[in-house]
Amino acid sequence: MWPRRVASFAEAFTQPRLIGAHQVPRRPVAVFAIAPWAFDGVFPADLLTRLRQLVDIDPATTFTSFEGPAAAAALAEADILLSGWGGPRIDAAVLTAAPRLRAVIHAAGTVKARVDPVVFDNGLVVSSAAEANAVPVADYTVAMLVLGAKQAFSRARRYAAAVEDAHGDWFSGEGTGLHGCTVGVIGASRIGRLVLRRLRAFDVEVLLYDPYVSAAEAAALGAEPVGMDDICRRGDLVTVHAPALPETRHMLDARRLGLLPDGAVVINTARGSLIDTEALTAACATGRISAVLDVTDPEPLPPGHPLFALPNVLITPHLAGAQGRETRRLGEFAIAEVSRFVNGAPLLGRVEPEQLPYIA
Ligand SMILES: NC(=O)c1ccc[n+]([C@@H]2O[C@H](COP(=O)([O-])OP(=O)(O)OC[C@H]3O[C@@H](n4cnc5c(N)ncnc54)[C@H](O)[C@@H]3O)[C@@H](O)[C@H]2O)c1
Repeated sequence: MWPRRVASFAEAFTQPRLIGAHQVPRRPVAVFAIAPWAFDGVFPADLLTRLRQLVDIDPATTFTSFEGPAAAAALAEADILLSGWGGPRIDAAVLTAAPRLRAVIHAAGTVKARVDPVVFDNGLVVSSAAEANAVPVADYTVAMLVLGAKQAFSRARRYAAAVEDAHGDWFSGEGTGLHGCTVGVIGASRIGRLVLRRLRAFDVEVLLYDPYVSAAEAAALGAEPVGMDDICRRGDLVTVHAPALPETRHMLDARRLGLLPDGAVVINTARGSLIDTEALTAACATGRISAVLDVTDPEPLPPGHPLFALPNVLITPHLAGAQGRETRRLGEFAIAEVSRFVNGAPLLGRVEPEQLPYIA
């Protein structure tokens, strides 16, 4: 077992260091551990300027491996690791090489694969930008709820095939539209909560399944707490936001998909494993229900998979999370976390080890 590191911010950062003949207060030192392909989007120049007002950091150096003398020299001085997509795993060897390290601030979503349990055991602060990554996923979900309720994807294909007319084809639109629908939300996760907040803008009835949320909390989120079967029986649209865990695997299986009302739309931006792909393919092939999938199991689906050919299924290539202009939010969140950390304030994205079994 490692000795727990001192998590006192004052002690970590106010010890003076000798520069020439002078003792100067020590500014915190941070090191980037993020892939170069992700770097510029997450940390554009203006954010780097903001970051450098808080910590000493070399903006020209980022590590995708901690092998070699340059990484060893950087780790020896590092108080904070700013990790991100494509960065290396942070494990016991990193802790040995980085005796000053107090915080891992991850400018991306899940830290599960990135941060070894030994990092938590040593009392280091771990933060994730999952909250910032949740925003575009919630936006995507709401867009898909609106368009899915309109049956816009299958009708666009019918229009392209000249099966449906552009003007006044009211009969094809019968029973469509979000107004007055029942929306089932699976998981009041970070993303699920943002979706619930956005749903307040719509005239819909909202159901929530989440074993970690009390009835009172569900009500405060604007939702009626129900069981999984009820979500399926009552949901005109069902949107999946739970993490991939052993207990959430195939939570939408053939039986539950069979409970969905005719015309229902299933939206999955969480993880493919939460839905039984074979059962979903069979259910959508009947035309009774539709699906919008940003994630699949397997991912990617093999070329020629029958789901690709179904007119009532829209599959996007796992693009709901931060991409393009949206990645800047991750850097902004991470830098705000650095600021909170060096100023001794509580972190908004702090990940506690006891949360790991039920978070993404
Ligand atoms: N498509 C994308 O690009 C994209 C991007 C980010 C996240 N995701 C996925 O979206 C999902 C939500 O991510 P997040 O960061 O909001 O998650 P999160 O870590 O905030 O989720 C944790 C919460 O999920 C709920 N939960 C846990 N077990 C549950 C269960 N058995 N049933 C229902 N709810 C349960 C609990 O409220 C828990 O607090 C995850 O599956 C994640 O992998 C996808």
